Formats: sequence, structure tokens, C-alpha cells
Amino acid sequence: MATAPAALAPKPDHVPAELVVDFDYYNLPGGSDDPQAAWLAARPKTPVAWTPHNGGHWIASTPEAVFRFYRDWEHFSASELSIPKMGQEYLMIPNQVDPPLHGEYRRNIMPLFTPDAIEKMTRDVRELCVELIEEVLPRGECEFVMDFAFRFPLGIFMRMMGLPESDRMYLRKLVEKFADDPDPQVKAAAAAEMGEYIDRTIEDRIANPRDDATTRITRMTFEGRPYTRAEMRGTVRLLMAAGLDTVAGMLCLLAWHLATNPADGDYIRSKLGDDLAMQEIVQEFLRRYSLVSSSRVITQDYNYDGVTLKQGEMIMMPSAFFNLDEKRDNPQKVDFTRANKRHITFGSGTHACAGAILAREEMKVFLEEWLTRMPPVNLDPARPPILKAASINGATELWLKW
Ligand code: HEM
Repeated sequence: MATAPAALAPKPDHVPAELVVDFDYYNLPGGSDDPQAAWLAARPKTPVAWTPHNGGHWIASTPEAVFRFYRDWEHFSASELSIPKMGQEYLMIPNQVDPPLHGEYRRNIMPLFTPDAIEKMTRDVRELCVELIEEVLPRGECEFVMDFAFRFPLGIFMRMMGLPESDRMYLRKLVEKFADDPDPQVKAAAAAEMGEYIDRTIEDRIANPRDDATTRITRMTFEGRPYTRAEMRGTVRLLMAAGLDTVAGMLCLLAWHLATNPADGDYIRSKLGDDLAMQEIVQEFLRRYSLVSSSRVITQDYNYDGVTLKQGEMIMMPSAFFNLDEKRDNPQKVDFTRANKRHITFGSGTHACAGAILAREEMKVFLEEWLTRMPPVNLDPARPPILKAASINGATELWLKW
């Protein structure tokens, strides 16, 4: 989402002038045409660089730097994830908790995401996917973001958490504001409203337990005591933030890719039913459409290659700078047969995505059902796509025709 330029932060004295770049991740040039290409075009030339935009922050620009900062939780804490910093009443659990406390919180949520748990959800995932496709199919066109991309993962999330379908659009708007709006006040207001919604749901499940993930969260314990309300809220809130915008953004990029690269659609069709080949296809899409640029706050002064990153400063680690490293062979080309599909689209280390199996399953089911049920799908030439480069890439508008 492009915004009017805000005031720039003054350069701190310890930042060498040659490391200062004009990098505004909310307004990356070309971001609405091809988000990943826009990230690459804006990549600073030095391994770390500093930008005065969005409160002033560091950017890791090489695969080595991105990887290192993801893994080093002692110097790079996830307790603050927003740039500009926004401060919160409560932490999103487990994403904003550093080790050693992180371990027990993470172990608590993992039973929601084991292969067995996901297998139980697979029928729901496929059922909803088919339902949404069949709804748009007779129309001959759709605006994919609204008609499909958000409805699918949000529908899965609502079923998993036991939330009423009628709240879907309301929640979607809140999530979008929180994720995409560069104004910290708008973000904070959206977060507060989500907090209230979650609180009401939690109170309801404590009084009226059901067979759903929200009820399970209300029964979790930490170091032998029951979760506080803030812990319950922080856990639900994270699952909501983590699973919606991400999958929705990825589905938009997949639908865009298929509409603009029909030969890739033909290739995937030829592999339907071959589970191993489908895993490779999903893996290559995850690499190419590197989605998330997470951030960390520096916990103590840190020397990286002679550059001092000061305690309290923020650093962004764009996954595109790892996945689309120019040392790889033609990194922007989707090549399902490439040998090295290694990526950090799900992060790396302590906080690596807990929902990765579910996310892969949603992507796979989408590809299978979309390519089986839809006739050839094209972009609508009258309404060009508006893609989105942000901390979570995706699309704002994607009109498709068939
Ligand atoms: C394509 C879709 C997805 C992508 C690209 C993605 C990406 C990520 C990334 C990069 C992180 C690490 C963030 C960091 O280190 O700051 C993360 C963490 C997490 N994700 Fe995902 N995610 C996706 C889908 C999901 C889904 C569907 C869920 C579950 C509903 C989920 C749940 C989580 C959780 C719980 C964490 C925090 C793990 C921890 O802190 O230990 N994600 N995800």
C-alpha cells in the first residue's frame, strides 16, 4: 500500500554515511507489479544498511546476514516485530517470546499442527476450497483477493478456532489494517479491537467449553500454572496474524503466476496425484514467492563486519534476499526441477513457522483443485492486477477471467 512520505528519522552518529539507503518497505518502487522483483531492486549493496524511513532501521541484505540474524536470538530478539516499533499491551505467543521461555509456549501449541492434526483438517481444507471454486466458476470472472484468497485461510482458521463464519469479513478487515497499514496508530487501534474480540471469545469458551482450538488454549499451562488471560489472548492473536495474511498473500501470488504462466499450470496438471512432485512444486513456489520480511530488535550492541548495531535498534530480514540470492541459477525463474530450492519463507531457527505443514497443505490443495476444476484462467486485461510488496507480500486486487 503506497503512502505519503512520513518524516525521516535522523541518522544516528554510529551509522556510517555510506550505509544509509533510501529504503521504504511500504513504498517499494514496482511493488504493485511484482513484489519480489521490487524487493530485489531495492536490495542495499552492503551486507547491512540503514534507512531513515519508518522510524529508522537496519536491513540485512545478504543471505548470510538474513540467516544469521534469524538464528541468533540472543542478540536479535523477536519481542518487538514491528517497524516502526509499536509496543503492545501483550505479546503474541510464542512468536514474541525469546528462549528459554519460548520452548514451553511453543510445545503447547505444536499439538495443533502435528501431521495427524493436519490430516484431520485436510477434509475441511479441501471441502472449503472446492466450495469457493464452485461459487466463482459460473461467473466467468472473479476478484481473487476478496472472492478467494482471504476467504480460504480465514475459513480454515475460523473452523479451527470455532469462530462463527459471520465474523469472517469483520476479522479480515482488522487483520488487513494491522498487517498493511503503515500508520502505527491505525495498527494499534486494529490490534486493540482484535484483542477485544478475542477476549470475548476466550471468556465464552471458559464458560462454555467446546471441541475447538480456542478452548484448548484456555486450558494451557505454563510452568505448572494455568495461562493468564494475556497469554491466552496472545496465543489466539498470533495464530490469527500468522495464518491469514500469509496464506492469502501466497495464494494470490500463485493465482497470478498461473494466470501469467500457463505452461507451469500444464506442468502441475501433469503431476497431479504424484505427491512427491507436488511437494517439490510447493517448495519451489515457496522459494520464489518469498513472502515474509520479519524483524528483530537488537538486545545488546553488536558488531557485524565492523558495523555497530546498537541495542534497541530494529533490523529487518527480508526472506527475498535469501531465497532469490543472485548466486543461484536464474533465481527469479520458477523452475520446479531446480536442485536447490532451499528457502527461509517459513523463517529459520527458534521461531520457524509452526503452521508450515498446514500452509503447505493449503497451497497444495489449492493447486490441485484450482487446476482440476477451472478452465484456462487469464488476467482481466481491463483491470490490471495490483500486487503488494510489504512485510507480508500479496495482492490488493487481482481480477481474473476465464
Ligand atoms: C505460506 C504461509 C505462511 C508463511 C509464509 C509463514 C511464515 C512464517 C514465518 C516467516 C515465521 C517466523 C516469524 C519470525 O521469525 O519472526 C512464522 C512463524 C509462525 N507461524 Fe507461519 N507462515 C505461514 C502460515 C502459517 C499458518 C497457516 C499458521 C497457523 C495457523 C502459522 C503459524 C505460525 C506460528 C504459530 C509461528 C510462530 C512460531 C514460533 O514463534 O515459535 N503460519 N511463520
